[in-house]
Amino acid sequence: MASLHVIDHPLIQHKLSIIRDQNTGPKEFRELLEEVSMLMAYEVTRNFAVEEIEVETPVATARCWTISKTKIAVVPILRAGLGMVGGILKLIPTAKVGHIGVYRDPESLQPIEYYCKLPSDINERELIILDPMLATGGSAIAGIQFLKQRGASQIRLVCLIAAPEGIQNVQAKHPDVDIYVGAVDECLNSHGYIIPGLGDAGDRLFGTK
Ligand code: PRP
Ligand code: URA
Repeated sequence: MASLHVIDHPLIQHKLSIIRDQNTGPKEFRELLEEVSMLMAYEVTRNFAVEEIEVETPVATARCWTISKTKIAVVPILRAGLGMVGGILKLIPTAKVGHIGVYRDPESLQPIEYYCKLPSDINERELIILDPMLATGGSAIAGIQFLKQRGASQIRLVCLIAAPEGIQNVQAKHPDVDIYVGAVDECLNSHGYIIPGLGDAGDRLFGTK
């Protein structure tokens, strides 16, 4: 079974409180989501492989560490995952970016896939899936399935807020995928919204409501 990592660093918790606030508008929401994603990237990359190198300083040879030449791709789940891409790329600027379009049918809460464009060598890359909200888990499960069908095997899922139900469902379907979250909330309401959550992430990010 892969692990659940709750990244409860004070900076993340502080910024997350402002993101949750219904009075926070799209501009600030976008900026904060990007900042929090960058902070989360620090923890998400913690177990990346490193190798020893020698560097000539002005006075001596230093034995140092460099990140091994791991190929990485970040894959936002459209739409709201887009808000996390910039922050992750600040720390992993050489990562390629794939896109998966999945929306949740508001009646059935079932995920509907509508777009997919991925780097051609997806099977050789470590993948970091991005979506701020893990509610029922349907969108993440479908997104992960999508990537596996195309040959991906090393996958991490990064979400800002998760419901316990979503975590459980993803772990049951994809026990090999490590999940990183900023907070685990209480539950889902009858419309599948995370309680207390932050509302509709896509709408708040893009100002569509
Ligand atoms: C939101 C969110 C996740 C999904 C989570 O997207 O960004 O993708 O819901 O819910 P789930 O875990 O129950 O699947 P939404 O379907 O609202 O699409 P959008 O990003 O285009 O607004
Ligand atoms: N999608 C969102 O954007 N918010 C929720 O609370 C649940 C699903």
